[in-house]
Amino acid sequence: MTLHLERTEPEQPLLWPRERPRPEDQPLLACSDNLDFMRGLPGDRFKLIVTSPPYNLGKEYESRTPLDAWLDTQERVIGECRRLLHPHGSICWQVGNYVQDGEIVPLDTVLYPLFRRRGLRLRNRIIWHFGHGLHCSRRLSGRYETINWWTRSDDYTWNLDAIRIPAKYPGKRHFKGPNAGNLSGNPKGKNPSDVWEFPNVKSNHPEKTIHPCQFPVELVERLVLSMTDAGDAVLDPYMGVGSSIIAALMHGRTVCGCDIVPEYVEVARSRVRQWYAGTLRTRPMGKPIYDPTLPNGGH
Ligand SMILES: C[S@@+](CC[C@H](N)C(=O)[O-])C[C@H]1O[C@@H](n2cnc3c(N)ncnc32)[C@H](O)[C@@H]1O
Repeated sequence: MTLHLERTEPEQPLLWPRERPRPEDQPLLACSDNLDFMRGLPGDRFKLIVTSPPYNLGKEYESRTPLDAWLDTQERVIGECRRLLHPHGSICWQVGNYVQDGEIVPLDTVLYPLFRRRGLRLRNRIIWHFGHGLHCSRRLSGRYETINWWTRSDDYTWNLDAIRIPAKYPGKRHFKGPNAGNLSGNPKGKNPSDVWEFPNVKSNHPEKTIHPCQFPVELVERLVLSMTDAGDAVLDPYMGVGSSIIAALMHGRTVCGCDIVPEYVEVARSRVRQWYAGTLRTRPMGKPIYDPTLPNGGH
């Protein structure tokens, strides 16, 4: 397979509102099969590998294969990711269910042994809850997927303060005991827990592109901010239209990714150019979820 590599240059460098990155820091976005692409990258480099593989559901970018064949491919891709992972790095693998004849297979459960065999350690199984999806008639409608967070060792980059969220009762104080009168919670906010709610990217989402199942950028931002430091390298080996690339760029990380579908890679490159130009629309982190029971949906 031909490897088509391109560093994405902004179209009008003189008009950049953002700090000009060094050429080697510009995103490397490839139109390629990910195994071909990753074999050309140096080992032990990436602080965060974040991705969402095809779920084998017969979407327009995948051909449906038996589960065992899908797992064989995943085994090889995960092996290559492990080679590329920084000693203090994290892998975040986002998947949903494989559905066959009405029976579901939660894909993270069948992937679990593949990561364990590579010596990786599971830190969290994050539940990503969202509001929209197919309406099922013979079972409950699915409204969550998972992100399994694996690290290479017990010594991993972790910046909890960067992703704290507002406490429910920020001014609450201990009312008795030795700490009476002191704030009972962390003044920087609370741990966001392992259940996350972000709207999935459907037609009215500001980030919607031609891709049928793209990441919301704010979801990847939370992973980037907590699991990497500024300047660290981030990789997405199934990058689609580059949502992880955008999230990492927004926070000063270096990035690279690949996808096998040329149209998606073109959209990813275009989104990066728009980001440099300051014209890319993203849903801001921390924006409340639309709530129809509140005035103006709570916004
Ligand atoms: C679930 S989507 C990822 C979407 C992405 N997270 C985004 O925000 O756009 C999976 C992607 O994997 C790509 N893909 C499938 N097989 C691939 C392969 N062998 N190498 C690289 N990309 C592949 C598909 O084209 C698809 O865009």
